[in-house]
Amino acid sequence: MIKPVFVTAALSVLALVAAKPQEVSWLNNAGVLTPYQKGTTPAGVKDKLPEDCTVTQVMLMNRHGSRYPQHELELIHGMQAKVAQAAEYIAKAKLPKEFQFLKKGYVSTLGTASITANGRKELFSHGVNFLLRYPHLKAQTILSGSVPRVVESAQWFAQGYFGTSWNNVSSSVFSILNTDNVTIQWIAPYSTCPKWSFDMIEAQSAPWEAKFIPPITKRFNALIPGLNFSDTDTLGALNACPYDYAAHSQSPWCGVFTEKEILDNEYDHDLFMHGGWGYNAQDNMGPMQGTLYINKLIERFSNSTGNAQEMYLEFGHDTTIVAPLTTLGIAKDTPPLTGEARREKRKWITSRMTPFAAQMVFEKFTCSSSFQGPQIRLVLNEATMPLELCAKTSEDKKYGTCSFENFVKANSYATSIKWGDAAWNATCGVANL
Ligand SMILES: *[C@@H]1O[C@H](CO)[C@@H](O)[C@H](O)[C@H]1NC(C)=O
Ligand SMILES: *[C@@H]1O[C@H](CO)[C@@H](O)[C@H](O)[C@H]1NC(C)=O
Ligand SMILES: *[C@@H]1O[C@H](CO)[C@@H](O)[C@H](O)[C@H]1NC(C)=O
Ligand SMILES: *[C@@H]1O[C@H](CO)[C@@H](O)[C@H](O)[C@H]1NC(C)=O
Ligand SMILES: *[C@@H]1O[C@H](CO)[C@@H](O)[C@H](O)[C@H]1NC(C)=O
Repeated sequence: MIKPVFVTAALSVLALVAAKPQEVSWLNNAGVLTPYQKGTTPAGVKDKLPEDCTVTQVMLMNRHGSRYPQHELELIHGMQAKVAQAAEYIAKAKLPKEFQFLKKGYVSTLGTASITANGRKELFSHGVNFLLRYPHLKAQTILSGSVPRVVESAQWFAQGYFGTSWNNVSSSVFSILNTDNVTIQWIAPYSTCPKWSFDMIEAQSAPWEAKFIPPITKRFNALIPGLNFSDTDTLGALNACPYDYAAHSQSPWCGVFTEKEILDNEYDHDLFMHGGWGYNAQDNMGPMQGTLYINKLIERFSNSTGNAQEMYLEFGHDTTIVAPLTTLGIAKDTPPLTGEARREKRKWITSRMTPFAAQMVFEKFTCSSSFQGPQIRLVLNEATMPLELCAKTSEDKKYGTCSFENFVKANSYATSIKWGDAAWNATCGVANL
C-alpha cells in the first residue's frame, strides 16, 4: 500500500532542527543531499571521553555546506518544462492534495553549484561550535580544496571560529590545495587516480535507477493524465525537493513521494558513493584512495615530520570523507551492496555518513588514569564512530577508541602504500603529471 508522506508543512527551519533520524523523511533520508544532522553514537558506546582525558590534537575534514545543484539543474529544468507543457491537463485534472501546487505551475529559482544560505549557516555554526568544543587548542591553519563551494564553506567556518579577527589572520592562516589532476593529495584523491571514472559508478547505480524510478513515473502519470513524465523528469522531481530545500528550506516536491520512494532514492545515493569511493569501487579503489588521508593523519598524529600542529581545519567533499572511512573498514556491509534490491539492513547510509556540512574529526588524546599513552577517536558528525579495526580492550570498546599505537599497527595496509607505488598504480593506473 502506497502511503504518501506529507512533509511539506513540516519543512521549516524548526523541523530541520527537530527531525529525528529514525523517521523516514527528506530531512533524514536525502542521501548526500540531506541537510546537516548530528550522528547517533551506537548503543553501548560513550559519547564523551572520561573526565581525566584531554584532547591534544585534532584533524577535521568538513564537507561543504548545502549547495545548489550542478548537472542536476538540467534535470530539474527539464521536469519544469514538462510541467509547463502539461498545464492544460493539470488545470483540468482533479489532483490529489499533495499535487495541488502544480495548478500554479512550478518554477525553479535555483542557482548553480555554490553554497546556499542554509549552507552558510551550517558552516558558520560549525565554526562557532568547534571553538567551543576545543577552546584549549589553537588553529594555526585552514586548508581548503579549490572548488569554490568548498572555499566559501571554509571561509564561513572561519568567520564563526575566529570572529572579526579573521580579517586580520586570514592571509597567514588560509591556504588552498588545488583539486586537479596534477596535485597529489588527500582532499580529492580520485583526481590523480586515472582509472577512476563516473562510468564506473554509473555501471552500479544505473541498474537500481532502472528498477526504482519507472514505478514512480507510472504512478505520477496515472494520477495526472497528460503529465507525460519520463523517468528523467521523475529524477528531476527527486532532485527538486532536496535542492529546493537546500536553498529555500521548503519545496512542494517534497510532499509527493512515498516513504518507500524516499528510501529507494536514498539507496541510489548510497550505491553511487559506494561505487565511486566505497567498497564497490573497482580494484579496491575506495580504500586505496583513502590511504592518502590515513597516512596524512598518522604522519601528523605521530609528529613524524617534527612540525605537526595541534589542530587541522580542512575542507573538502563527501568523497574526501568516505574514502578514508572505507580504508578503516567503517560501515562495511557483507556482502557488498548491489543494485538488485534495496538492502534494508545496512551500515552504509550516506544520509548519516555525509550529509551536507558533514564533519569527520579525528582526536588524539591522553588521560591521567583512564588510558595509558596516546589514544585516538573518530567523531563523525558529532557522534562517536567506533574504531573497530584496532579496538582491543573493554575500555576501547566502551569509548569507541584505540591506543594510537594499535591504530597505526592496524593500518599497515595504508602505511604500506604510497601514491605512485606499484600497488597504487595497479589500482589507479599511471597518472600523467
Ligand atoms: C586587526 O588588526 C588591526 C591592526 O593591527 C588592529 O588594530 C585590530 O585591533 C585587529 N582586530 C582584531 C579584531 O583583532
Ligand atoms: C510524451 O512525451 C514523449 C517524450 O517523452 C513524446 O514523444 C510524446 O509525444 C508525449 N506525449 C504527449 C501526449 O505529449
Ligand atoms: C611536534 O614536534 C615538534 C618538535 O619536537 C614540537 O615542537 C611540536 O610541538 C610537536 N607538535 C605536536 C602537535 O605535538
Ligand atoms: C607509477 O606511476 C607513476 C606516474 O603516475 C610513475 O612515476 C611511477 O614510476 C610508477 N610506479 C611504479 C612502481 O611503476
Ligand atoms: C588534466 O586536466 C586537464 C584539464 O584540467 C586536461 O586537459 C588534461 O587532459 C588532464 N590530464 C589527465 C592526465 O587527465
